[in-house]
Amino acid sequence: MRTVAIIPAAGSGNRMNRDVSKQYLTLAGKPILVCTLEVFEACPLVDALLVVVPSQDMESVRTDILDPWDLKKVAGIVPGGKERQDSVRAGIEALDGDTELVIIHDAVRPFITAGLIENCIRAAEAEGAATAGVPVKDTVKEVGPDGRILRTCDRSLLWLTQTPQVFRRDIIESAHRAAVRDGFRGTDDTSLVERLGIAVRMIRGDYGNIKITTPEDLVIAEALLAASR
Ligand code: CTP
Ligand code: MG
Repeated sequence: MRTVAIIPAAGSGNRMNRDVSKQYLTLAGKPILVCTLEVFEACPLVDALLVVVPSQDMESVRTDILDPWDLKKVAGIVPGGKERQDSVRAGIEALDGDTELVIIHDAVRPFITAGLIENCIRAAEAEGAATAGVPVKDTVKEVGPDGRILRTCDRSLLWLTQTPQVFRRDIIESAHRAAVRDGFRGTDDTSLVERLGIAVRMIRGDYGNIKITTPEDLVIAEALLAASR
């Protein structure tokens, strides 16, 4: 199936609290965005990449971030939107007519592996929709507004959701259309699909597939990088 990966990289990284958005920060001299794109470049099941960036960065991302690296699969640079969901939708609207399978993967998860991408692709080919995730390690509590615990969740059922999230094109298109129609906002793309009653397969990901979000994640990222060498 013709498979295109949309890489949302249009955030401003508020929780990282740095002058430059976190997707442009470097790990061992390489922008995090490039580290992520290189894994998709090396994955034979991925045909093309669409990178969604802040609209004011369209030119600088091309010249300063993408051009210096040998990225042959980048088929387009797309201006993002206010929230992640808007940026992903912009990517979906930019898909070419031949695309059959759509991967969505955060630019700031550079420790993704080709193997995990492939596992998610195979599952979505077979079942329509799949996401990577990992079982939670800690005990999770629901806490009320007064700060008191309401209940302890059954840990054996709980997973933390990651990306990649992979969908048959018609499924993710209709999910985003329905979200716009209903004014629904989700924090990931599978939640838009789940609310249509469509089953999503959970694929066991890697605990190392972290989303670089807050300053301590950069320390963890450096350590993961060092360990992988
Ligand atoms: N993203 C995006 N468009 C937005 C917001 C986020 O493309 N309007 C992307 C980010 O660039 C990132 C991914 O979605 O690759 C995951 O989002 P998150 O970790 O929340 O990144 P930011 O929104 O940049 O960070 P913060 O929420 O701390 O501001
Ligand atoms: Mg955000």
